[in-house]
Amino acid sequence: MDLASAALPIDQWALSPDVVHLNHGSYGGCPRSVIETATEIRAQLEAAPMVFYKLHWQPLVDRARATLAAFLHAPADQLVFVPNATHGVATALASCTLAAGDEILITDHTYRAVRNQLVRLAATHGARVVVVPVPLPFDPDQCVAAIADATTTRTRLVVLDHLTSPTAILMPLERILPPLRDRGLQIVIDGAHAAGQLDLDLGALRALGVTYYAGNNHKWLCAPKSTGFLVAAGPIRPLVTSHGASAEYGPDNRLHAELDWVGTYDPAPQLSVPAAIAALAAVATPSQIHARNHALVLALRDRVLADLGGTQLVPDAALGAMAAITITLPPNTTAGALTDQLLRAGFELPIVDWPGQPLLRISAHLYNDVHQAEPLLATLRELGVTRG
Ligand SMILES: Cc1ncc(COP(=O)(O)O)c(C=O)c1O
Repeated sequence: MDLASAALPIDQWALSPDVVHLNHGSYGGCPRSVIETATEIRAQLEAAPMVFYKLHWQPLVDRARATLAAFLHAPADQLVFVPNATHGVATALASCTLAAGDEILITDHTYRAVRNQLVRLAATHGARVVVVPVPLPFDPDQCVAAIADATTTRTRLVVLDHLTSPTAILMPLERILPPLRDRGLQIVIDGAHAAGQLDLDLGALRALGVTYYAGNNHKWLCAPKSTGFLVAAGPIRPLVTSHGASAEYGPDNRLHAELDWVGTYDPAPQLSVPAAIAALAAVATPSQIHARNHALVLALRDRVLADLGGTQLVPDAALGAMAAITITLPPNTTAGALTDQLLRAGFELPIVDWPGQPLLRISAHLYNDVHQAEPLLATLRELGVTRG
């Protein structure tokens, strides 16, 4: 596909044109039309809060949920909005059954917040977190085998990323999950980056044994910040107990009753999710957008690799619209300090402090183009980064 033909220029986004945005993966970014929708919803709410919450809110949530469920190929009766993937994973983990001596399997690419959650959860239950090393360069066969080999009779819960945060790896879930499903394990997938970056079919993932799938709408789907989702095929123990714990309160669906309303909140981001899906659909189909962004991130990565040198860390087929690239830090500089220097120079993208090998992570969405590699490389050189 012609990369330029499916694009949404930066002037149609709320993003500043004065910054080079190469980090859609961390905090997303919104088309202006989506921000306008959220602002209108917020204005309606603030104009008459009781009318809004009592008369309009639940039908609006149900409609937004139905749109998102159709987009994700997920059952609406198992889908709830949450503020973000961190909340979604935490809710899923709180809902899992664990006992003393159980093992929880993760990889060394697991998102730090999730690993932290698991360390506390394991301590509460007397369980143990088993971290499976998945070395770079990434080899899907090694990854599949390492997870299978680490699974024991004590394994009770497996928590995997769909796309890893520090290393941008698309995990081969279709190969990893069937044996775990066949052992009857609880499987939680952290899909923080997947919706809007991949062709996502949560029905197919459920068939592979996924018990809980948490994701974000405010990353690649381009909704305003503080909207994520949780799809729960298992029982749910909400982190916050609210009115919905009373059988007589709320809709018949008890998952919706318990998790739609967890106290007064700003529903504008969640109710703007259909507008975000529509804004992207006005550019191209989801598959075309995913293919375009995938091709673009490969082109950006290749330009950086050609300039700085370094090895390709992940096969193209195991990437979505993000890529991590090895760099050598200038003397006496940390990954965090270099990230800050890039921010001050007008570039949003993270330098990841990966053990033994700092990584630059780039993201490609509809406002990015391949020519952004040159100013990035020039600035990296100015900051003392001369090698991959
Ligand atoms: C793999 C992964 N999980 C969870 C999160 C947390 O997302 P949020 O901050 O929206 O909760 C991120 C954020 O980048 C992530 O990369």
